[in-house]
Amino acid sequence: MIVEVPTRDTLLEKLVKEVKNLGVELPERELEIAVSDILRWLGKSYGHGLVPTEDGSYTLIHECGEPYHSLSAGALTEALEKFVRPVHLLLWALRHKTLTLIDMGFGLGYNSALFFHISKRVNPQLKLNIIAFDKEVPKKIPLLPEPFKSSHKRLLDLLPEGYRDGLSFKLYLGDARKTLKGVLCEADFVFHDPFSPFKNPELWTLDFLKKLASRLKPTGFWVSYSSALPVRKALILLGMKVSTTRPVGRSRGGTLATYKSGVLPLTWKEREKLLKSPYSLPFRDPTLGGDPLDILIDYRLRVALKKYGLDREGT
Ligand SMILES: C[S@@+](CC[C@H](N)C(=O)[O-])C[C@H]1O[C@@H](n2cnc3c(N)ncnc32)[C@H](O)[C@@H]1O
Repeated sequence: MIVEVPTRDTLLEKLVKEVKNLGVELPERELEIAVSDILRWLGKSYGHGLVPTEDGSYTLIHECGEPYHSLSAGALTEALEKFVRPVHLLLWALRHKTLTLIDMGFGLGYNSALFFHISKRVNPQLKLNIIAFDKEVPKKIPLLPEPFKSSHKRLLDLLPEGYRDGLSFKLYLGDARKTLKGVLCEADFVFHDPFSPFKNPELWTLDFLKKLASRLKPTGFWVSYSSALPVRKALILLGMKVSTTRPVGRSRGGTLATYKSGVLPLTWKEREKLLKSPYSLPFRDPTLGGDPLDILIDYRLRVALKKYGLDREGT
């Protein structure tokens, strides 16, 4: 679900009502800053349709204005550098007989296609399972450039599910908060690639990430392009070790998380921010059915309570 942008007045009204319900008092100025924060998070739109990205590969821009891939990193580069490389897929493909991937936010299928292509190239005997989730798949998907084109096409031919060349693939269509419930598995990797946390918060909450992480092997890796504080905070609260991946196309890196040790620790500056920033709180969606705007409002109000020492718990 992508958040519809409310007017400033509607948003302020909602916040005032929520503060009243909580029985607390917050300075008017803080509520105005909260409204500006939320509008800024929801604000940016990149247009619509098929666009070339920095490395020459193509992506689509969703009708909500969010690109399926980073325009500044390049679509292909993003899939390779922010998902495939940080989990050391080549080594895993060489050392295992079977690998299972949860592809959260299948989109154009670039991440899954690279996982399929690269694993099979390194170890043709490998059995692969891809369990993918998306609300919708665009009708016309641009194909990845060579040498990945035919693997991408073979994968898309399987939609929504099928088996070929040692790959078992299934796409669960619908809101992943609902569809994930019926899926029990032990994945080696989660490629977590919804739209950005502040536009698509429902797939970045502590509650959803908890469900997802419970489908990951203890030795497995969760990886994403985002380094947002609410996301990292949630992963840490889930008991995972969190590391920063190499920045590509922007100054901030993404996030790699695992239950086992063996990932580079966060820098002192990153840890300090997670400890001290009032924004270092997870998004919450205890019913796994909350409206995305309400998830953002709830988060921003908890940030305000934390700023004024009015918060009761750490989450
Ligand atoms: C950044 S795109 C994914 C790009 C994709 N990984 C690729 O390689 O092409 C984000 C995807 O998340 C999906 N999405 C957003 N909210 C969702 C939800 N609640 N449930 C399932 N999918 C969702 C969108 O439909 C979109 O396809």
